[in-house]
Amino acid sequence: MTIFVTGGAGFIGAAVVRQIIERTNHAVINVDKMTYAADLNRLDSVNDCDRYCLERVDVGDREKLTALFRRHQPEGVIHLAAESHVDRSIDGPAAFMSTNILGTFALLETAYAYWQEVGQPREFRFHHVSTDEVYGSTDKDHLFDEACPYKPSSPYAASKASADHLVRAWHTTYKLPIVMTNGSNTYGPYQFPEKFIPLMIVKGSLGEPMPVYGDGQNVRDWIHVDDHAAAIWHVFERGDNGQTYNIGGRTTPTNLDVVNHICQLLDIHHSTRNRRPHDKLITLVTDRPGHDAAYAVDPTKLETTLGWTRHHSFDEGLKATVDWYLENHHWWQAILDQRYSGERLGRGHILEQVS
Ligand code: NAD
Ligand code: DAU
Repeated sequence: MTIFVTGGAGFIGAAVVRQIIERTNHAVINVDKMTYAADLNRLDSVNDCDRYCLERVDVGDREKLTALFRRHQPEGVIHLAAESHVDRSIDGPAAFMSTNILGTFALLETAYAYWQEVGQPREFRFHHVSTDEVYGSTDKDHLFDEACPYKPSSPYAASKASADHLVRAWHTTYKLPIVMTNGSNTYGPYQFPEKFIPLMIVKGSLGEPMPVYGDGQNVRDWIHVDDHAAAIWHVFERGDNGQTYNIGGRTTPTNLDVVNHICQLLDIHHSTRNRRPHDKLITLVTDRPGHDAAYAVDPTKLETTLGWTRHHSFDEGLKATVDWYLENHHWWQAILDQRYSGERLGRGHILEQVS
């Protein structure tokens, strides 16, 4: 089988590509525009495999997508390509609307046209990878299940919610076979250091202030990237046509819990430059505008109907992640030097508008 993975040079997409290539005999076409967030080092282990190839294509480019579908004749699409960082969506929402909404629309149209051309096979599958942020904020006692209404807060979440509605409309109206996953906060090796966990590890290991938004009591539901990728593949293979599955780690610490845990792990490895314990670097800073108080996902449907289980506890996964960042200083230092130097993003004003 040949599968298109969009956004396969991204953090989660690359983990999905690696798992398909390493654990199956399927071929993967990685359709990626190669934005600032892409990184081909994530794909070093599969790069030489003749079942893998990269196509540098924007998911909004209908002409190129149509040609790709005809050339590679895929049996399915796993759609991860997106602008993914909430703070950047506050600074410049336009790119999020363009890729996450219009890009998904273009991909749906071209996938549907191709699916019709090849005789509408029932086995074809369009897997849309979405987020738990579409549900908005919850309180700690109430988990998001798949029936929760959509209440997105940030421009990023609103763009992902829009894409989810488009995908469901293509299923309901045109009978395109789809599955959808709404995943929770993902962490692990090779995550771009704009996101919370890698940013805290990088800042802490450099002995710089570790900026925690607001009072640090916001809650996120953390899942290891290998578990998230395995769950996506599990649903792609076994999910029922038209169904949505939440993916979560059943682990809901506050941000302060997470950063304190990172500090303890950093303390074991090395002292800061001025030899203070790392938690002295934790600095509460102005809150993110529209900051959702809590996300907490109920993955029961995925566990009970499809038999999925996660393999990484947060304690073990976070320790391995801190170890990985400390051992792979060269990887993130190159990003800090060339693409993102760790400055505060998303203060609340639109910095990049549609011209
Ligand atoms: P990422 O930012 O690391 O990677 C996104 C990838 O998409 C990059 O390789 C980028 O080059 C590519 N891309 C962006 N715009 C494109 C376009 N127009 N055409 C083709 N490729 C394009 O993202 P991630 O963290 O790996 O997230 C992947 C998906 O999973 C996203 O859809 C995101 O919404 C979803 N998700 C992420 C998380 C998380 O915690 N990171 C959690 C749940 C769901
Ligand atoms: O819930 C799934 C979502 O998780 C994904 O859909 C998104 O793509 C992904 O980026 C992530 O969104 P968050 O906004 O939750 O992740 P982020 O890493 O940006 O922030 C996690 C928490 O940490 C959040 O409460 C904000 C806080 N934070 C973040 C940064 C970057 C800080 O306190 N300080 C920081 O410097």
